[in-house]
Parts: sequence; structure tokens; C-alpha cells
Amino acid sequence: MSDAGNDILVAYPPVGAARAERLAALPDHVTLTVALDSPEAIAEMARAAASAERIVNVYVELDLGMHRVGVPVIDTAIALARRAREEPSLDFAGIAFYPGHVREAPEDQDAKLAELSATLTGALRKFDAADVSARVVSGGSTPTLWRSHEIEGVTEIRPGTYVYNDRGTAAIGACGWEDCALTVLATVISTAVPGQAVIDTGTKALGREPVRGAPGEGFGMLLEHPEVLVERMSEEHGVLDLSKSSWRPQVGERVRVIPNHVCIVVHLNDVVYGIRGDVLETSWPVAARGRGEPAF
Ligand SMILES: Cc1ncc(COP(=O)(O)O)c(C=O)c1O
Repeated sequence: MSDAGNDILVAYPPVGAARAERLAALPDHVTLTVALDSPEAIAEMARAAASAERIVNVYVELDLGMHRVGVPVIDTAIALARRAREEPSLDFAGIAFYPGHVREAPEDQDAKLAELSATLTGALRKFDAADVSARVVSGGSTPTLWRSHEIEGVTEIRPGTYVYNDRGTAAIGACGWEDCALTVLATVISTAVPGQAVIDTGTKALGREPVRGAPGEGFGMLLEHPEVLVERMSEEHGVLDLSKSSWRPQVGERVRVIPNHVCIVVHLNDVVYGIRGDVLETSWPVAARGRGEPAF
């Protein structure tokens, strides 16, 4: 990422000396920001930044409803901000949150966005009153992409899935099916068992992620035959449920699968091919997969 840009936010707690040191070792041209929610992470990041002789920006992460990471109590978050400010190698830059609990279609998000606005406004007031004002308020997601500006106080958004979109995003109405840009090209490798067809994309190609909110709804959908789902999977096998379809594939036929969660699929593959119509125009290595030289 530091080859591609000079402003990197790691929206993930930099816990563990190895992780903190690796971040602190990024080239000098990078302005590095980390989001964290614990005194341990502050201490580790501060130590690593000090020994690398650099300043690392810190966002204190708040839990505004997702209940994953993030401090739920504002006074505790303020205490973390103060701690970060006391460290000469850290700069308290602001707060971060991830509204991953908002999974409604954009037009149905009114209540949750209003709640987020109210909670955030209250939190920002408390930060101001404690004299640790947040310069940046980092939030947003793909489902809230078009409405994040309605969350009062937000200055920065972090949608990611929107780059390709996926079945999970389209299923909740946060994008159209025509906005799903990434599919996995699969080959039908068996039709021997009546009532089903098997493709060569299993968990190693699609990941085993249910459609959030709809467990039991399969692991992917065929672009050309949306009534056909990948019903179950082994590592290299995806079993298609043909019961709702009149389509009967031939062995060797190729189909495209819209994955449930595209982020996992990108991570599982080395290359993404750029296709316009039927023309293969380009290809991109998935460098951020992190499979560089192994460190032994
Ligand atoms: C902390 C954080 N920020 C941003 C994103 C991107 O959100 P989305 O996948 O809804 O685009 C994610 C996705 O998991 C995330 O965990």
C-alpha cells in the first residue's frame, strides 16, 4: 500500500509487538494512522513508533452498535485519547467507528442513522468538553455509502465492498444486481448425481460465508441463472441446487458465480481479470493479499 499511496489508515487494532513494529517500519513518506481501543495497543504502538522515530496518528475506536471492537463508554474512550496524547510518538487524531450493524437498504436506514447521529454528536461534545477534540471522525460502510454524510460529525468514510459489490450487498438492496462486478468463473465438472450439478469452485474459491441475515441461503448465485444457488461446498466442489431451474448444464459448461462476500473471494485469489463484454482487457495481481516473501 505504501507503493500506491502516502496516507494509510489501518482500521484494525495494532496489537502485538510484531504488528506494531511492522507498521512503524513503513517508509517515511507514509502518514500512518491506526484505529485502536485498548491501553495495550497504545503502549505497543507508542513503543514501536518511538523506536522507529516516527509519529503515528491514532483514532480511538468507538462501538456505536456493531459490538465488535470499539469502546462503548465515552469516558473510557476519552481516557484512551488522553493516553495517546501523552505519548510523544503518538498523535491523537480522532475517532473511528464501523456501522456494520446497519444492514438495511439505504431507504430503510432512517432510524439507525438518526441513532448514530445522536450518539456520535453526544460523544463529540464530550470529547470537546474534555479538551481532546477529534479532528477526524472516520466511519461509513458500503450499505451506508450513499447516506454516511447524514451522520452528523463524520468527516471520512471507509466503504470497501462497494469496489465490486456482492450478493450480500445486493440481497439487502444496498446495490443493484447489475452493480456486482466480480464473479468467479467456474466449470461444471459433474452432473452424475441426478438433480444437481457440481462446479469446480468450493470453499477454496468462494469462502464459506453465509449471506448475512439469511443462513441456509447458499454460498453464491449464478449470474446467468439467478435461480441457481451454490447449495453446499467441499474444498474444490460447489454443489448447485437445480430444483428451481429448468437449466440442465453440460459437463464442461462455464458459469459465473456472484459470491456472497466478495472481500473473502478477492483475498483467496492471486489475480483479478478485467473483462469488458467478452473481451479480457487486463489483469491485476492481488498484491494486498499479503502473500509476499514468507518471513522464516
Ligand atoms: C473497520 C472496517 N472499516 C471499513 C470496512 C469496509 O466496509 P464495507 O465492507 O461495508 O464496505 C470494513 C469491512 O469489513 C471494516 O471492518
